[in-house]
Amino acid sequence: VKEVIAVGLVGFGTVGSGVVRILHEHREKIRRETGCDVIVKKIVVRDMEKERAYPLHGAELTTCVEDVLEDESINVIVEVMGGIQEAKDYILRAFDAKKHVVTANKDLLAMHGEELLKAAAANGSDLYYEASVAGGIPILRGLVDGLASDRIQKVMGIVNGTTNYMLTKMTEEGMSYEDVLQEAQRLGFAESDPSADVDGLDAARKMVILSTLGFSMQVSFDDVDVQGIRSVTQKDLQLASQLGYVMKLIGTAEEKDGAVAVSVAPTLVPKSHPLAGVRNEYNAVYVYGEAVGQTMFYGPGAGQLPTATAVVSDVVTVVKHMRLGTTGKAMSFASRSKVLQEDSDIYSKYFLRVHMKDETGAFLALTKSFVQENISFDKILQLPLDDAKAEVVIVTHSTSKKQIQQVCESLDSQYMEMVSLYRVEGE
Ligand SMILES: NC(=O)c1ccc[n+]([C@@H]2O[C@H](COP(=O)([O-])OP(=O)(O)OC[C@H]3O[C@@H](n4cnc5c(N)ncnc54)[C@H](OP(=O)(O)O)[C@@H]3O)[C@@H](O)[C@H]2O)c1
Repeated sequence: VKEVIAVGLVGFGTVGSGVVRILHEHREKIRRETGCDVIVKKIVVRDMEKERAYPLHGAELTTCVEDVLEDESINVIVEVMGGIQEAKDYILRAFDAKKHVVTANKDLLAMHGEELLKAAAANGSDLYYEASVAGGIPILRGLVDGLASDRIQKVMGIVNGTTNYMLTKMTEEGMSYEDVLQEAQRLGFAESDPSADVDGLDAARKMVILSTLGFSMQVSFDDVDVQGIRSVTQKDLQLASQLGYVMKLIGTAEEKDGAVAVSVAPTLVPKSHPLAGVRNEYNAVYVYGEAVGQTMFYGPGAGQLPTATAVVSDVVTVVKHMRLGTTGKAMSFASRSKVLQEDSDIYSKYFLRVHMKDETGAFLALTKSFVQENISFDKILQLPLDDAKAEVVIVTHSTSKKQIQQVCESLDSQYMEMVSLYRVEGE
């Protein structure tokens, strides 16, 4: 048994320096857990000249990844540089060299998870990636280990901190989408190109990982029905609030009769639902298991120390496997073949806003479209809009995605115009 396990770190930015710090500051605890000293031996960066915010604690800095990949004393590679192609290449080379890998890279896992998991298994290497979804929240472990004995039926997650911050500000302070985006960019919550966040792509990548683990099926990015928050308006939020709802960007993954559906969309939840209370940049994942019922995992979805904690916990897992001689493990494998639900099988309630001419026959035309699809109303609100039009807000009873699409297509344009359509979950 080795007394010292050497880690090679690729990346020394926000997360990488947090990893060095946690390994240093929690050294005693980690020694008790694993029975050995876990130290960072070498760190790969791009720029040797850059001033480093955190001390190296004895690690050697290099710009040459081979220094780490070819060092036989290094058993564990921690990839926290980000990006896809290069990171993938380094990880595959690490497996070839029979090293174990821990990564925080959701983009890479969502795109190439299957290939990486196969390469890890083929080389008897571990591959862990807890930090890739919801930063500091141990949600992947929760699904894979904590709920291992249960059948997961549904996962609903607020897994993007930027959009949750934006929607919180829009809801609570009445800010417009544009103003809150500018503020989030100024505070460093949102990137200068915010599309990965506001178009729901980042959340969709995390839902790929969550649903693959939750249902043991290899879900891919193209399987996720994605809608972002760009078109959410102040009026949508106000009307939703009047009917008792809060808007969140929610990733939903559900299994029914052996088929799964995965989506990301601005979604309304009742104000009393636990996800409604997840504010600002916080993340939460709500899991329904057949036996356990409802559970929720809540916490910081990003940030240096929360994310580094998840990374180092993965390192601890790998080191324990090394000591027990049980490596070759990854979070989980997609052991079932993938079956996706048809739109006619995906059920939910919907919130619709329609601007309707204030004329005899208009309401009849509206209800006709719903009656044709056999959809009944749960709630309805009508407010004057201007002299000639009314704002009509409808919450339907549970209906299929296909039916609601048909209703939207059949609305009589002579009398009305559809303004917005959102899913309603959690009732
Ligand atoms: N930040 C978070 O809160 C968070 C949360 C969850 C997951 N993650 C994931 O963690 C990963 C790292 O994020 P981060 O925020 O720590 O990024 P970051 O602050 O930009 O740091 C990236 C680091 O990687 C190094 N690097 C980049 N490209 C490289 C290359 N080609 N070769 C060698 N080194 C390279 C950089 O070197 P230089 O320092 O020399 O430029 C830098 O040290 C990403 O996959 C991200 O999605 C981050």
